[in-house]
Amino acid sequence: MRSNKVRLNNGCTIPVIGFGTYSAENDRETTEQAIHMALEMGYRHFDTAKIYGSEPAVGNALQEAIHVGMIQREDVFVTSKLWGSDHHDPVSALKQSLKNLGMEYIDLYLVHWPVSLKSRVTYPVPQEDDFEHFDLEQVWCGMEKCVEMGLCRSIGVSNFSCKKIEQLLDFACIPPAVNQVEMHPMWRQRKLRKLCGDYGIHISAYSPLGGPGNLWGSTAVVNNPLIQSIALKHKATPAQVRKNKIHLNSNALSKAPS
Ligand SMILES: NC(=O)c1ccc[n+]([C@@H]2O[C@H](COP(=O)([O-])OP(=O)(O)OC[C@H]3O[C@@H](n4cnc5c(N)ncnc54)[C@H](OP(=O)(O)O)[C@@H]3O)[C@@H](O)[C@H]2O)c1
Repeated sequence: MRSNKVRLNNGCTIPVIGFGTYSAENDRETTEQAIHMALEMGYRHFDTAKIYGSEPAVGNALQEAIHVGMIQREDVFVTSKLWGSDHHDPVSALKQSLKNLGMEYIDLYLVHWPVSLKSRVTYPVPQEDDFEHFDLEQVWCGMEKCVEMGLCRSIGVSNFSCKKIEQLLDFACIPPAVNQVEMHPMWRQRKLRKLCGDYGIHISAYSPLGGPGNLWGSTAVVNNPLIQSIALKHKATPAQVRKNKIHLNSNALSKAPS
């Protein structure tokens, strides 16, 4: 598999197919093994976040691959995300992520969710009094500082609605390069895709299989009768049915035959 790349609004390129590293179950060793296998299969884009706890595994697996000469740092695209309890200081949060990853820079840093949280919150479901006022302008100013300091090449957002994107564009000196959102055949984000397309913001799809087995997900995509009939016709699995040009960020490798 060789993943195509697309150009972002700042001139950087991003591999279209990414490998997600969120898992409620996997330990570090399992995640590292999965990343090694993904590299061998041709994945060159790895998606992590502070809150996933997978930054050390991603960093270690990639360092090993660089060490044995399989890849160079410039060959891989690493995305990480700013968690809501770190909104007051994106620069320090990214420095910590870089430490976790053992890297000098990442390719893309995203505001994970458009909500600010107090530092000690219940994850994954915050309670009502865990939220703080979300000062988007101040958070984005910190994100822009991360680019200026060379800690990341591109900045973007995740789980942002049309309204939030428009608010951000009102004051951003560096416009977001990416909006990573849930997107799959049952949730096609038509309005958001149109708006982001108009502003040159790349949409990255998470949970492309509908996140079966995840707290937020369901089997509605993989069990969809139309998708199943297409899979049957092509002697493929429902997870292998995909429309070209949809940008995926999937854990689908977890079901690849060993
Ligand atoms: N920005 C955000 O807020 C955000 C949110 C969520 C995810 N993400 C990113 O997106 C990545 C992918 O999300 P996701 O895990 O929800 O994606 P997904 O690909 O929609 O769902 C993955 C789940 O699908 C099942 N699966 C995998 N391969 C399959 C196959 N071939 N056939 C049938 N089922 C299969 C597995 O469930 P079982 O193990 O139960 O079988 C697996 O855990 C994450 O790792 C993370 O990097 C970002």
